[in-house]
Amino acid sequence: MAVSPTSTLDVAAIRADFAYLDEQVDGKPLAYLDSASSTQKPRQVLDRMRSFYEHEYANVHRGVYRLAERATEGFESARSTVAAFVNAPSQREVVFTRSATEALNLIAYAWGLENLGPGDVVVITELEHHANFVPWQFIASKTGASFRHIPIDDAGELQLDALDALAREGSVRVVAAGLVSNSLGTINPVERLGAWAHEQGAIMVVDAAQAAPHRAIDVQALGCDFLAFSSHKLCGPSGVGALWGRAELLEAMQPFNFGGEMIRSVSLERTTFNELPYKFEAGTPAIAEAVGFGCAIDYITEIGLSAIEQHEHELTAYALGRLGELDWVRLFGPPADRRAGIVSFDVAGVHPHDVAQVLDWEGVCVRAGHHCTQPLMTRLGVTATSRASFYLYSIHEEVDRLVDGLHKVRKSLG
Ligand SMILES: Cc1ncc(COP(=O)(O)O)c(C=O)c1O
Repeated sequence: MAVSPTSTLDVAAIRADFAYLDEQVDGKPLAYLDSASSTQKPRQVLDRMRSFYEHEYANVHRGVYRLAERATEGFESARSTVAAFVNAPSQREVVFTRSATEALNLIAYAWGLENLGPGDVVVITELEHHANFVPWQFIASKTGASFRHIPIDDAGELQLDALDALAREGSVRVVAAGLVSNSLGTINPVERLGAWAHEQGAIMVVDAAQAAPHRAIDVQALGCDFLAFSSHKLCGPSGVGALWGRAELLEAMQPFNFGGEMIRSVSLERTTFNELPYKFEAGTPAIAEAVGFGCAIDYITEIGLSAIEQHEHELTAYALGRLGELDWVRLFGPPADRRAGIVSFDVAGVHPHDVAQVLDWEGVCVRAGHHCTQPLMTRLGVTATSRASFYLYSIHEEVDRLVDGLHKVRKSLG
């Protein structure tokens, strides 16, 4: 199959920003095809964090001295970068969390415990990541609400004709769905789900962990109520993520964590809580990480989300084409035009862990496992898959190395 990359991305220049590409395994260059799990970091982000630690670091929101003011400025400027990135109406609506996982737990606990009860229905999807599945399952069981899912079809796309039946099950109060599936790359119709959720009087919770790094996000256009994502999947450091929520909902919610900085006043008799977003940011936050998060957003925004999306689309179409030529490889998920840069597959007769092991000998890094989507694996009739995922630094030659590596897998183990 001939390759003719047409993306507008200057991938050679981008790759020069990533030091990991100088690494070798067994004398082979790395083909890092596991960006859905976590992305590599460009020098710009690492330099910014180092400079922040060296010249601007102190605790935030506490000190009156100028260094502390500078640190607070850096931290709050990262918040406004996150707010602009998702087109939040106000930066008060952006809460720094440890990760997408913590953001989703925050919503499930702080909103769910107060607002759910018997007769209510929480709706998630069959391809949901455990981070947007297990918290809701747990809170539903605690509150007596029912926990239901939107099924998928054989291509891994949501069956929206199931919604009417779900609406008859009770009072739908929460619809929680990922914008992009981490296992199949499926792009879910979140705007439609949000409109349906609001018709039911429910809130719409969007897990954007796999979407925010790869496509422009606009919380107002999506029409959702909460949206969560992580820094480490978009070229930023781990240990920090963001929750965006509609101000009136966040204001009505109780805090999730308690301690320093989230209070207005504390006495032996009672405690009152701080204003948004600090009410949800107890204790010392991940300060330099938030600054790195903001820098990573600047980095990918400057390159351009639509160019990144287009580049990944081409790689995905190419990978699906090349893997599709191998009749001993089963591909999961929808066609390239309805998925993001994620390709899950199964090599006949070889366990995905063995596939990943042999590919590692070739310097090709892929993920093997259930990808924190066990209900989806059950639906697909497998316990695990192999998964290749792409980002702005990925190239067609790396897909070729994946395919060559799979021939070796087949030869040695198939
Ligand atoms: C779709 C999706 N949601 C949530 C998460 C959780 O992200 P984190 O581990 O950064 O909290 C992931 C991580 O892989 C994911 O892919």
